[in-house]
Amino acid sequence: MRVDLHFTPHQADELSLRDKTVVVVDVLRASTSIITALHNGAKEIIPVTTVERAVKISGNLFGDYVLRGGERNGRIIEGFNLGNSPGDYSEEKVKGKAIIFSSTNGSYAIDKARYARDMAVCGFVNISSVVEFLKQKNQDFTVVCAGNNGMLSLEDSVCAGMLLHKLGEADGMDLVPADAAIVATLLYKGYSKSILKMIKNCEHGKYLAEIGFADDLPVCAAVDAVPVLPQLIGNVIKLKSDVEKKEVPKVPVVS
Ligand code: MLT
Repeated sequence: MRVDLHFTPHQADELSLRDKTVVVVDVLRASTSIITALHNGAKEIIPVTTVERAVKISGNLFGDYVLRGGERNGRIIEGFNLGNSPGDYSEEKVKGKAIIFSSTNGSYAIDKARYARDMAVCGFVNISSVVEFLKQKNQDFTVVCAGNNGMLSLEDSVCAGMLLHKLGEADGMDLVPADAAIVATLLYKGYSKSILKMIKNCEHGKYLAEIGFADDLPVCAAVDAVPVLPQLIGNVIKLKSDVEKKEVPKVPVVS
């Protein structure tokens, strides 16, 4: 199974990801917030790259059935209901809602994967669910790290490395990693003993703490705390399990 990896979405081109299996990683904090929102009952996440687009598509159900979430420079966007702290996406706030979501790097990475055959959202909080998904697919895939404004980010690279390490350890998995995938796995091995410490010391972790979001860091570092698998289905991100539940035909009761 060939494994490719991009440390930033800028290295990836939409068409090269077309029809591929893609995993998008944005530990701080888009992946973690999207995973949390869907786990807490949000109906779907509608990813958009610009604030203008988020406003344009909000429609007349905005504020009721439709919410806007995301950040610029780490802070909630004016006119949005939710920021990008995973804690903003509580069951009380998001259950049953469609969330138009725009963040600086995460949405951009997701957008790059829009022509993928399968796209899953990964953070530390759902890493084993993503490993399971890739094991079941058992085919070539590409990891796209969101990075930070076009630069590599330590937390996404380490998370991608953890994903590859765990997958490589699974029975029957024969990975053929590209050089970037080998680098990410080595990086993970260097930080595996303290993911939280790594997150507190990485550039974006320090920035988030400075602007008042230090409490988000342990939430984003909690390995397997939110074991669900958000996937791109059409143009929106959902839990596939929710879609399947709805598709199960009702069995007629025979008396
Ligand atoms: C992003 O997409 O750039 C982020 O998730 C930034 C953040 O809110 O921490």
